[in-house]
Amino acid sequence: MNTAPPPRPGDAVESIDTPALVIDLDRMEANLATMAAFARDHGVRLRPHAKMHKSATLARLQMAAGAVGVCVQKTSEAEALAAAGIADIYISNEVVDRAKLARVAALAGRIRLGLAVDSAEGVERLAAAVAAAGSTIEVFVEVDVGHGRCGVPAAAAGQLAQHVVSHAPPEGGLVFAGLQAYHGAAQHLRGAGEREAAAHHAAALARAAQASIGAAGIACPLVTGAGTGTFSFDAASGLWGELQAGSYLFMDRDYADNLPAPGAPRFEHALFVKSRVMSRGVSHAVIDAGDEHGLLRPRTGAGIGELPALDATVWLVPGHCDPTVNLHDRYVAVRGGLVAGVVEAVWPIEARGCVG
Ligand SMILES: Cc1ncc(COP(=O)(O)O)c(C=O)c1O
Repeated sequence: MNTAPPPRPGDAVESIDTPALVIDLDRMEANLATMAAFARDHGVRLRPHAKMHKSATLARLQMAAGAVGVCVQKTSEAEALAAAGIADIYISNEVVDRAKLARVAALAGRIRLGLAVDSAEGVERLAAAVAAAGSTIEVFVEVDVGHGRCGVPAAAAGQLAQHVVSHAPPEGGLVFAGLQAYHGAAQHLRGAGEREAAAHHAAALARAAQASIGAAGIACPLVTGAGTGTFSFDAASGLWGELQAGSYLFMDRDYADNLPAPGAPRFEHALFVKSRVMSRGVSHAVIDAGDEHGLLRPRTGAGIGELPALDATVWLVPGHCDPTVNLHDRYVAVRGGLVAGVVEAVWPIEARGCVG
């Protein structure tokens, strides 16, 4: 909990207390518009992953720009964003614990909610939970398209879809909504060719899963998936009808290390941690960001002289947005850049710490 008084609109960037999570609004809005235009131009829906920013304000901005809703990964993230007014959420992950499923089913009675499944047991438990709550939920069968995390093999998708359909309304509360197909390991392959090859492999497996569902006599309304590293390939495949990319909004350093895909839209860093040098020894400087300390060392062969002075401001680009955001209670949204800009707004991070 940050107990420092929050910055106020109109404050100079220079006066923001450290450490602070700062959004460069001009850059973020450019990223927002770029991805919204890409989805429109390619005739695909955008359902950005909100586990990245954990913020109802940012989810609302994405939806105002055309996103159909957002994804989350955890039940508690969905609850936190729903409590803050987001009414269309997909938990792109499995939940099998009965107590948690009761919460999922209750939430499904209040907002439009989706959930991924990858086991018959999970389907049966979900069906029982929504029956007890008297709600309905959209259900996506997750297929493992190469990530090696959750998901059934492609050939098993039809059988699991049949389980879901056997609990369809009006008797049951499970609405079969399609396939969850996300290849996480492909997102950070550095070469565009490597990512394209992995995306092609994922598409082949997703097609096989679709065929398995078709062979079971069931229509597959949607394939949803894709991340910031592969969305241009996934959209080009014509198979994915919905993109779940999230990090494009802030563009962390790790994604920026990917070699760009030819013709794909580019995104700029828009999230920064403002920090301050709190100690400076003979070999390194210490800043006040990170869990407690962050260490700055001179490059090999360079002296301490290249490091910032005691009390100097240091701007960091997060290596991975999700865990960085999770350390903060609020965003400070700045207009006009990080040097001469001013604070435009302060936004809560409602789903911070929502790991369950
Ligand atoms: C299920 C799922 N969809 C989409 C994404 C894409 O997110 P990003 O674009 O932030 O990498 C992720 C990220 O881990 C994910 O787990």
